[in-house]
Amino acid sequence: MKAVTWHGKRDVRVDNVPDPKIEEPTDAIVRITTTNICGSDLHLYEVLGAFMDEGDILGHEPMGIVEEVGSEVTNLQPGDRVVMPFQISCGSCYMCNLELYTQCEITQVRDQGMGAAIFGYSKLYGHIPGAQAEYLRVPRAQFTHIKVPHGPPDDRYVYLSDVLPTAWQAVAYADVPPGGTLAVLGLGPIGDMACRIATHLGVERVIGIDRVPERLERAAARGVETVDMREHKKDLGDAIRTITDGRGPDSVIDAVGMEAHGSPVNKMAQQAASKLPDVVARPMMKTAGTDRLGALYSAIDMVRRGGTISLSGVYGGMADPIPMLTLFDKQVQLRMGQANVKRYADDILPLLTDDDPLGVDTFATHRLPIDEAPTAYRNFQKKDDGTVKVQLKP
Ligand SMILES: NC(=O)c1ccc[n+]([C@@H]2O[C@H](COP(=O)([O-])OP(=O)(O)OC[C@H]3O[C@@H](n4cnc5c(N)ncnc54)[C@H](O)[C@@H]3O)[C@@H](O)[C@H]2O)c1
Ligand SMILES: [Zn+2]
Ligand SMILES: [Zn+2]
Repeated sequence: MKAVTWHGKRDVRVDNVPDPKIEEPTDAIVRITTTNICGSDLHLYEVLGAFMDEGDILGHEPMGIVEEVGSEVTNLQPGDRVVMPFQISCGSCYMCNLELYTQCEITQVRDQGMGAAIFGYSKLYGHIPGAQAEYLRVPRAQFTHIKVPHGPPDDRYVYLSDVLPTAWQAVAYADVPPGGTLAVLGLGPIGDMACRIATHLGVERVIGIDRVPERLERAAARGVETVDMREHKKDLGDAIRTITDGRGPDSVIDAVGMEAHGSPVNKMAQQAASKLPDVVARPMMKTAGTDRLGALYSAIDMVRRGGTISLSGVYGGMADPIPMLTLFDKQVQLRMGQANVKRYADDILPLLTDDDPLGVDTFATHRLPIDEAPTAYRNFQKKDDGTVKVQLKP
């Protein structure tokens, strides 16, 4: 089958690889009909390369049609239409019973000290073949799926795999008080959708911040108040305080993560790490604190005293300087993590209708044959060609 594979920093190709097959009685094989590129894939494309092997299949935002099921998968059958959550979880362990599916105790990647396994997300997350491919082996398939109706286009449901629950969790964790203000840093797919969900859930004032004109325009077109960070290179915090009664927003979502613009020193260290041999770079990326924390620092600076920061952007280092004095003195709540996808599915599914309140049907900017993945990755990273969300069609 065809699959999108990792070959090195900024080197993604489409290779012919063996079809996956049932390996465990708990597996299913799904024929993929749509599979998205995510901002998280850009971390593998760039700074997390040390955790990848040449030929690893990328991707974790898929949907498709069940082809085959293992003997212990009793709730799926060939022909079912399913979306796969990006994380693999059992659904019945201690953590899954708490609906903390990204911490599933059955699939936790213990040798790396990490949480639940994730499709196509490096050794850190279990080295599981990814979903940007014609077929996907779904481990723990009994729970690792969301069944959706036949009929409406894939656009309607595919974001259940990641964008919708991630944005939903970002808003839930932001815990905006009634009548309060939410600032969203980053208007990529996650930040954009977080703005939509916050508005839908009744947050009165949503301020979206980015530096890419068409991303700002997308959010503004849906009624979000936008701030272009290029106009406030040194005083973003002051600019946001000025429009929030001098105090700052009650809650801030960081939908940027470790490739934020505006931290040149860390960028240099990250790039240095990405040129080293993997055995040296891996511990360095994990422990030496090579992240770019521009967005996180902005969040800490702008949130009002006693407010909440919700981190959905992914961070990776362990020794980054965090302004503890400011966090402690401002009495900030900080919540974060990979999204527990299925926890939010029942809230989201009723919104995926012909009325389309969240605008999922028109959310993708590009729908491309899988062969065009290399160009799509490049354009998504460089934010060229108006690329915000890419669907690949195997
Ligand atoms: N927690 C989860 O479960 C989860 C799931 C999916 C994605 N993510 C993470 O969410 C983040 C966003 O994903 P995406 O798909 O929207 O990616 P993206 O890269 O398209 O979006 C990031 C946006 O942030 C903007 N930006 C860069 N620096 C900034 C700064 N200093 N301040 C404000 N904005 C800035 C960029 O211009 C871009 O539009 C990534 O870190 C991704 O890994 C987390
Ligand atoms: Zn994703
Ligand atoms: Zn579990």
